[in-house]
Amino acid sequence: MRKYLFIAIALLAVLSCGQENKGASTASMAVSFDDVLATRRSIRDFDSSKEVTEAQVREILTAAQDAPSWANTQSARYYVAITKEKADAVRELIGERNKQSTAGAPVFIVSTYARGLSGFFRGEQTNEIGDGWGAYDNGLNNAYLILKARSMGFDTLIMGMRDSDALRSLLDIPDEETVMSVIALGHRASDPVKPTRKPLDEIAKFF
Ligand SMILES: Cc1cc2nc3c(=O)[nH]c(=O)nc-3n(C[C@H](O)[C@H](O)[C@H](O)COP(=O)(O)O)c2cc1C
Repeated sequence: MRKYLFIAIALLAVLSCGQENKGASTASMAVSFDDVLATRRSIRDFDSSKEVTEAQVREILTAAQDAPSWANTQSARYYVAITKEKADAVRELIGERNKQSTAGAPVFIVSTYARGLSGFFRGEQTNEIGDGWGAYDNGLNNAYLILKARSMGFDTLIMGMRDSDALRSLLDIPDEETVMSVIALGHRASDPVKPTRKPLDEIAKFF
């Protein structure tokens, strides 16, 4: 009996060790896509004791690059504030509420798109949406980014409240690019409640 109890405790220890390593090593982890969708939340309480490496950000952005884009124009651009100094500087430019929400986030990714690519053919606007397609592609790209981050055990907060002019000068963002969101990246300190969603039939019509 004692022997079985010992084996059970040893097994539990091994399993909980695997949980602690979540996010540290990503290649060997298999998280189901549904789990990624279900556990991805906008996080407003980050754990300041946990870091994100440049290699991990590169892995996340490489996955974001797999997103579809208009004629493969790939107009999404990223500016990664990863040093403490730059991250703190970006945090000053996202408004008081977002600043508080992201106090413990180690990395900020400013997401832009280059105008005149998505939605254009040989320099001509293809239809009435124009550069709106750049924003569309940017959102798709960001969706890949936040889901990949979640699959690696990280958490994010997309922020549309930000000072785009100040970010442009801080990060040398060219005039030809439109500044979209700032995405905080880190580890959640607590689990938020999922905001409710509208009933499907309110947002989708079937014919
Ligand atoms: C384009 C966009 C802009 C957003 N801007 C902010 C923001 O400035 N501050 C914030 O706390 N949350 C922001 N959010 C997060 C939303 O509030 C959040 O996605 C929504 O409430 C649903 O919650 P969930 O992401 O946990 O599912 C933004 C989300 C998107 C997609």
